[in-house]
Amino acid sequence: MLSSSMVNVKTSHHPIISYRPIRPSDLEVLEKLHGDLFPIRYESEFFQNVVNGRDIVSWGAVDCNRPNGQSDELIGFVTARTIRAKESEVEDLIRFDPSMPDQTLVYILTLGVLEPYRKLGIASSLIREVIKYASSIPTCQAVYLHVISYNNPAIYLYQKMSFQCVRRLHSFYLINGQHYDAYLFIYYVNRGRSPCSPIEILTLLVTYAKSGFKSMTAKLWKHEERKTSKWPKSKESGCLLPTTQNKRTHN
Ligand code: ACO
Repeated sequence: MLSSSMVNVKTSHHPIISYRPIRPSDLEVLEKLHGDLFPIRYESEFFQNVVNGRDIVSWGAVDCNRPNGQSDELIGFVTARTIRAKESEVEDLIRFDPSMPDQTLVYILTLGVLEPYRKLGIASSLIREVIKYASSIPTCQAVYLHVISYNNPAIYLYQKMSFQCVRRLHSFYLINGQHYDAYLFIYYVNRGRSPCSPIEILTLLVTYAKSGFKSMTAKLWKHEERKTSKWPKSKESGCLLPTTQNKRTHN
């Protein structure tokens, strides 16, 4: 078990919530929870990958005090996967670091909590696990995700967790023939934040100018005459720019 806490709910018992990795024995419950909580159907391969930890990291919540032999049954979960920043749709929102060409991101795929266990801080704890995990990866610059535009509980949750809502993606989802917008939320880790304010951009330019001046002085000192550019290339751009999106279709 990763951690545990005691909470009070209006149920027939007093729950004791613990967090642990999701494992193969969770397969059936995990599939059922996804079917109950989301308007989207996931392929069985997705669940196989989750429970076997193939390209997907996940955390589950259980109620150790749950009666009827359900004390180890999932009542909440979060699934996420690491992707390369270059292959993501948010590369322009990440601070470019020339010393780290292989920057990565953690993308939250799904998050859910069984109805009677909601508003107890379980989703917040699961998200904190993801943030902790992302922060422990030196190349990781941010955690990000999409939320369907009408999902207010999830939107409030991510806002409360200090995620920044950076984009509204029009008609991102197609569910049962109907289009829905999505919000893109991001949480920066390991100094991955993109410089968006004029002051930050100015500071960055001054830093580059200084480093350019230093390298020029060094070159003059060494009487070097190489015709290479003295300005480091920056992939920075502003935030809240429109993006080419991967639209999602779900029947
Ligand atoms: N109404 C308003 N705000 C809410 C609500 C709600 N129903 N639920 C959570 N919040 C906000 C509040 O700010 C809350 O803080 P507070 O309790 O101090 O007011 C904060 O989120 C933290 O709530 P938690 O207790 O940590 O969240 P919970 O464990 O209840 O889970 C969740 C929230 C995951 C959205 C749950 O309602 C759920 O499973 N919904 C169905 C599935 C879903 O929508 N998942 C998210 C989809 S997005 C994605 O997967 C990337």
